[in-house]
Amino acid sequence: MDRYLVFGHPVRHSKSPFIHTMFARQTQQELEYGLAEPAVDEFAQALRTFFDQGGKGCNVTVPFKEQAFTLVDCLSPRAKRAGAVNTIKLTDDGVLLGDNTDGAGLVADLKSHGVTLADSRILLLGAGGAARGALAPLLAELPSELVIANRTHTKAQLLAAEFCDLGPVTAQTYEQLAGTFDLVINSTSASLQGELPPLAPALIHTDIAIYDMMYGASDTAFISWAKQHGARQSMDGLGMLVEQAAEAFTVWRGIRPGTKQVLRELKRNLGVI
Ligand code: ATR
Repeated sequence: MDRYLVFGHPVRHSKSPFIHTMFARQTQQELEYGLAEPAVDEFAQALRTFFDQGGKGCNVTVPFKEQAFTLVDCLSPRAKRAGAVNTIKLTDDGVLLGDNTDGAGLVADLKSHGVTLADSRILLLGAGGAARGALAPLLAELPSELVIANRTHTKAQLLAAEFCDLGPVTAQTYEQLAGTFDLVINSTSASLQGELPPLAPALIHTDIAIYDMMYGASDTAFISWAKQHGARQSMDGLGMLVEQAAEAFTVWRGIRPGTKQVLRELKRNLGVI
């Protein structure tokens, strides 16, 4: 049977085996999908061994995405732009192709919630790996403006400079932010510590859409905060997780699974519904 897995550390609580097993069932694909948690300095060896032993493809998550970028034979354009690889496929020619489906997953989830990206004014909070992965797919949707704000402003400036050939992207400090944004995407890891990015409440209005790449059984700190200040539409990163997996599955198997039922099951498992 064709073998796939996810590499990460820690990875025990990954939902990827559940998601891909459901995708395989739904599309009647014969495959198995497992977990691998190599020591941080043993990822390269573990990756090689997996493919030497007949593995067909894998996902890569924290903290190995940047290292995976350096270990594959060939990079997709979106992986090259993201500077990170979350999906690897062994091609029929024996080439290890590195791809990145995170940004596509974000855009697919936003669209599935009916969020319009074309001509919209987008605020992206954070300038780490998650923000980098999102930029090219967001700019491909032709927003009127995309502003990056980050605690460490120089990182936002560098990111904006790196992507400005793809669209109208600029960097602003949190204090400089003004005007009406249609969508705010929180890619910071602040929620992990129960913290908030230092965003002025005046930027939140009833018609704004709020997206937090984090998720949990209850609202993230950022979503709670935005709701308190009047935001009516908020989304967390569970949908992005499922959509990036669907994109990876499509890369591997050439068949696109549906995501709605899987998302519903995951929410049920989390106790959200
Ligand atoms: P990831 O790969 O998940 O993006 P990362 O590369 O470590 O993780 O980036 C984390 C991002 O969250 C950074 O933009 C970080 O801001 P700095 O560049 O200033 O470190 C941001 N971040 C983390 N905690 C934050 C907080 N409490 N408030 C605001 N931004 C925060």
